[in-house]
Amino acid sequence: MSAGLETFGLHIAYGGNVAVQDATLSAPLGTITGLIGPNGAGKTTTFNACNGLLKPSSGRVQLFGQDVTRRGPQTRARMGLGRTFQQVQVCANLTVRENVALGAEVRLVGRNPFRQLAGGRGQQREVRLRTEAALRGCGLEALADAPASTLGTGRHRLLELARVFAGGYRMLLLDEPSSGLEEEETAAFGRILRTAVADRGIGILVVEHDMSLVMSVCDYIYVLDFGTMIYAGTPAETQASEVVRKAYLGEVEAEVTP
Ligand SMILES: Nc1ncnc2c1ncn2[C@@H]1O[C@H](COP(=O)(O)OP(=O)(O)OP(=O)(O)O)[C@@H](O)[C@H]1O
Ligand SMILES: [Mg+2]
Repeated sequence: MSAGLETFGLHIAYGGNVAVQDATLSAPLGTITGLIGPNGAGKTTTFNACNGLLKPSSGRVQLFGQDVTRRGPQTRARMGLGRTFQQVQVCANLTVRENVALGAEVRLVGRNPFRQLAGGRGQQREVRLRTEAALRGCGLEALADAPASTLGTGRHRLLELARVFAGGYRMLLLDEPSSGLEEEETAAFGRILRTAVADRGIGILVVEHDMSLVMSVCDYIYVLDFGTMIYAGTPAETQASEVVRKAYLGEVEAEVTP
């Protein structure tokens, strides 16, 4: 398996509060890797360190075998690391197609800002091709001309996925991409992820609370609890793990305690 995104002994604190300690994981290309854990476990914090929004106080991040710990988010994006965020982020006043085209444009701008200013024909064509392929990959062709504001949550999530697909990244970080989706929409979402990995050999690291999605799409799963990696294994192993069950039960008990 080719190296995708790897972290080694990440330690991240907000002021004096340690959010992640000694987090080591590997999300290879050609696979889907899950990062799960109860609320506040440190999943988004780990993502922020992976794409360069946060600097770890110690530890290392590697992208495609290269140490990128001191590189900013733009450099990591140029190298091929794409990301979606926990909260839905679409431009409501643009159409679905225009939103997806933004994903392609952002990536191409990153490569060569002067060519983008000139708006070369080749580049416009590349944006169009990438946009249409991403719309098709996410089953959004029929809605391409609709304003994004008219879509429901499920389609918003697909639109975000199409936009990051249009960027042509080799490695994707998806933070709770299916939150707010109905059961059937979630299953369809999972199939789209698996197809992208099978067809293009990309790597995906996904944070997700929906266990049906995690267990059906992931090749391998890491479990964070209170900032510490408490388990790593296949979906079947993770589901059977007493340690993992306890971490989640603790959360349920905390929620029902008055
Ligand atoms: N900007 C911040 N400043 C201070 N503390 C933060 C900040 N962001 C997160 N935290 C704290 O760091 C810990 C980890 O938060 P994080 O958002 O990474 O968790 P998470 O696993 O993504 O949770 P969720 O499943 O709810 O999204 C929590 O205790 C949280 O309160
Ligand atoms: Mg989070």
